[in-house]
Amino acid sequence: MDGLSRLKYRGYDSSGVALVGPGGMDVVKAAGRIEELGTALEATPPAPATTGIGHTRWATHGRPTTNNAHPHQAGDLAVVHNGIIENHHLLRAEVEQAGRDLVSDTDTEVVAHLLDLDLTSRLRAAGFSHSEAGWRGSGATTPAPAPEQAAQLLVEAMRAVTARLEGSLALLAITPLAPGVVVAARRSSPLVLGLGQGESFIGSDVAAFVSYTKQVAEIDDDQVVLLSAQGATVWDRQGQVVTPRTWEVSWDASASLKGGYDTFMDKEIHEQPTAVAETLRGRVNELGEITLDEMRIDASVLRSIDKIIVVACGTAAYAGHVAKYAIEHWCRVPVEIELAHEFRYRDPIVSQKTLTVAISQSGETMDSLKAVRHAREQGSRVLAIVNTYGSTIAREADAVLYTHAGPEVAVASTKAFLAQITACYLLGLYLAQQRGNKWPDEVADYLDKLAQMPALIARLLKEQEARVKALGAELADRSSFLFLGRHVGYPVALEGALKLKELAYVHAEGFAAGELKHGPIALVEEGLPVFIIVPTPRRPVLHDKVVSNIQEVRARGARTIIIAEEGDSAVDAFADDVIRVPPAPTLMLPLLTVVPLQVFAAALAAAKGLDVDQPRNLAKSVTVE
Ligand code: F6R
Repeated sequence: MDGLSRLKYRGYDSSGVALVGPGGMDVVKAAGRIEELGTALEATPPAPATTGIGHTRWATHGRPTTNNAHPHQAGDLAVVHNGIIENHHLLRAEVEQAGRDLVSDTDTEVVAHLLDLDLTSRLRAAGFSHSEAGWRGSGATTPAPAPEQAAQLLVEAMRAVTARLEGSLALLAITPLAPGVVVAARRSSPLVLGLGQGESFIGSDVAAFVSYTKQVAEIDDDQVVLLSAQGATVWDRQGQVVTPRTWEVSWDASASLKGGYDTFMDKEIHEQPTAVAETLRGRVNELGEITLDEMRIDASVLRSIDKIIVVACGTAAYAGHVAKYAIEHWCRVPVEIELAHEFRYRDPIVSQKTLTVAISQSGETMDSLKAVRHAREQGSRVLAIVNTYGSTIAREADAVLYTHAGPEVAVASTKAFLAQITACYLLGLYLAQQRGNKWPDEVADYLDKLAQMPALIARLLKEQEARVKALGAELADRSSFLFLGRHVGYPVALEGALKLKELAYVHAEGFAAGELKHGPIALVEEGLPVFIIVPTPRRPVLHDKVVSNIQEVRARGARTIIIAEEGDSAVDAFADDVIRVPPAPTLMLPLLTVVPLQVFAAALAAAKGLDVDQPRNLAKSVTVE
C-alpha cells in the first residue's frame, strides 16, 4: 500500500493487490482512489503473505470499475499491466474460443488468460495436469510441480506470450504454484527493479520502493525477469541471461512527501527556486565551458546541424516553445516545435542535419518516445531534456540533459516546467558555444543572469503569493478565462490556461496577444477575467504592443489582470489587478511570469474544493499513445 500510494499520481481511478501466501492467493480490488482499496483490505483482510503485486489504474479499456481494476485473474495466475495491448481484440477471440469467460472489458485480462493457457500447456507437457478445481484438494489429478519448475515454466510462458503482444507493456504475474516469485516483462513501458537485503521490488517508478532500497536495476525492452527475495534473474528476448545496469537513487524518500504543505503542488511550486538552481548546478567545467550530463553526439555533428525540432507534449511542449525564442536568438538556427503525437504521423522532414530535442519530465511519455524513435530512424540525433533518471527516453537518446528537479508528484507540472525552461537555456548556450555563435564571456554573462533567477523566483513567491491566492479564491465562481502573451509571454499564456483547465475544470484559453484581433476578441464580454503577460518596458517594441492589447480588451469590458515588471507604471491605468515580477532579461522572464499563474490555478481549484494534486481524468505519466 505504501508503494502504491507513492505511485498513485500515475493513475488513480481504481486499484488492487494480489498476494500469494502459504494458503494460496488473495485478490482485493476497489474502484476509486487508493484509500478505497485500504478500506476494502480492512473489510476483507488477506492472509499473511510475503509476495504480492499491486496496481493503480488509469483507464484505457473499460470504465474505472472494480471489475476492470487490476490484478486480473485467470486460472492459477494474477496479472497487473501498464500500457496498451493493441492486438487484444484478436487475442480476446482466441481465449474465448479456448473456453475462457472474460469478466472485464480490459486488454489485461486477455493477457492473463493467454498466460495461463500457455503455462497450463507447458505444465501438461511436463507431465502435470489438474482439473477445473485446480491443484489443491480433490481437483488435483497429479501432484503440483515443484515451485522452481513452475517458476521457470512461467518465465517461458511470459516470453512466449509477450512475443505475441503488440503495443506497450509492463507486465507482472504471480501464481501460488511458484510462491515467492514475481515474473515480469517490459516493452516501451517503464519498469525498474529495486534490490534490497533479503527483499526485492519491481515497479514502474523507483518512488514505489525508494524508502526500502536505493539500489536500482534497469530492465530493457523485451526482457523477462524472475524476481525473488534473493534478487533477480533477467533474460533477453533470445532467452540469454543478461546482467542489468544498476545504479543508486540519489534522492531520498522524503523528497516525495508533502513536507508541511497542503498539497504536493504547493510544495513543488515552492521548490522551484531549488529546481532551477539544481538544473544549473555543476554545468560549467574548469575551462568555463557548459557541459551536459550524457553527450554521445560529436561536436562536429552539432556544428553541422541546420535545423532543430523540439518534440514534446503539454507543458513540456510549452517549455520547448520558450526554447525556440532562446535558441534561434542565440544560435541563429531554425527551431520548430512539434507536438510529439503530430510529429510522428505527418512525415516530417528530418535528416542527419536535424537535431531533435525531446523534452519530458517523466521520460516515459509514449507520444514523445515514439517521436524520438521516429526521429532516430530518420537519421536525426536526439538530445533529451528529462527529469527522471534512467527513463526510457533518456536511455534511447544520443545525449541527455537532466533537469535534476527532483521527483514531481502533483499531476500538473510546475517545477519540472521551470527546470525544463532552464535546461533549454543551457542547451541554447551550449549550442552557441559549440557553434561559435557566442563568445565565452557572453555565455558566462548569460549564465550569471541565469544563476540569479532562483533568488528572483523566491522573492516573487514571497511578495505576491498571498495576493494571487486571494485573487484565485475571489474568482472561483467564474467559468471562463483568457490568457494573453507575446514573444516568450505567449507560451506562458498557454501554460497559464492549461493549468487552470487541468486543475479547476474551467474554460481557459491562451492566445498570442497579437492574434486577438483576428478572432478571439469576440469572446471578450463584460467582466471576463483576462490575464495579460507584459514584456519588460526595456523592450519597448514588444512592451508597447502588449499595452495596446490590454486596452483593446479593457475597452470591451474585460477585467484585466496584468503581470508586469516592477516599476512598469505604463500598465497601471488599464489594470484591474497588477501582479509585479522582478526585472529579468527578456528571454528569462517565463521563469517568473508563469509562477503567479500556477499559484492562481491551484488557489482557484482549492477554493472550489477540488483535488489539486490529482485532477480528474488525468495521469502523471501518459504511457499510452
Ligand atoms: C500538464 C502536464 C502535462 C505534461 C505532458 C508531458 O501539467 O503535466 O501536459 O507536461 O503530459 O509529460 P512529460 O513531461 O512527462 O513527457
